[in-house]
Amino acid sequence: MEINILENVQAVAEAGADIVAELVTRKKDATLGLATGGTPIAMYRQLVDLHREGDLSFRDVATFNLDEYIGVSPDNPQSYRAYMQRELFDDIDIDRANTHLPECAEGQDPLEVGPAYEEKIRAAGGIDLQVLGIGRNGHIGFNEPTSSLASHTRIKTLTRETVEANRRYFGENEFQPELAITMGIATIMDAREILLLATGPMKAEAVEKMIEEPVSAMSPASILQMHERVTVLLDRDAASALSHRDYYDWVQEQKRRLLGRRDGS
Ligand code: F6R
Repeated sequence: MEINILENVQAVAEAGADIVAELVTRKKDATLGLATGGTPIAMYRQLVDLHREGDLSFRDVATFNLDEYIGVSPDNPQSYRAYMQRELFDDIDIDRANTHLPECAEGQDPLEVGPAYEEKIRAAGGIDLQVLGIGRNGHIGFNEPTSSLASHTRIKTLTRETVEANRRYFGENEFQPELAITMGIATIMDAREILLLATGPMKAEAVEKMIEEPVSAMSPASILQMHERVTVLLDRDAASALSHRDYYDWVQEQKRRLLGRRDGS
């Protein structure tokens, strides 16, 4: 894992957007795996800015989101479809037909959604870059602790902790779903490259377990230790429980030196 500890939320957003933009510039028809939640919003704004500046086009890009609630229709502002339209898709030149979420349409059997979603990802040639956030309990997507590390897209019951953490996004009398369809951990691990963003002190413990403790289904994000190409972007708060911060900073310094030498600067 490459651990990059940055000054603040904005620096994490900018570094994340640079990684996405570099890929989309290099591979115009890249396939992105995307996350919702509070964390990636600043990065999406940054991508919208880069697009508006005229430097970045998503015309041929395809996207697959990690998850979607069951029982919330796409036109409900609480759906992850509505989130993606609002936070990113409506403000860039992406073709809506190329944007996918594991949605369970009215009347559709939710058990069929997972395998069909896996097939769509395969048909698109797999995911080039998967963007992830991390739950306070170490979940990635909605793969809650004890999820199979070999899982694929399927229905998951959210933990009470996750429902509680997400309550801030719902009104007092608003229906809050407790079921979702999520990419599995194996689906995420199949991505060619992974970018995980975490900010704020509430994520410090989950981040420490992901990076510095043994791989365990009790901390689903820890499976990323087994992936060859993972970049973790943290602000200082999210990195505050890490024991080896000096080493991670030292590695980044060495990387800058190496790149400087290569660029002749
Ligand atoms: C979102 C998702 C979740 C979030 C995680 C962190 O699509 O799959 O795993 O990334 O719950 O959420 P925030 O960013 O709101 O703290």
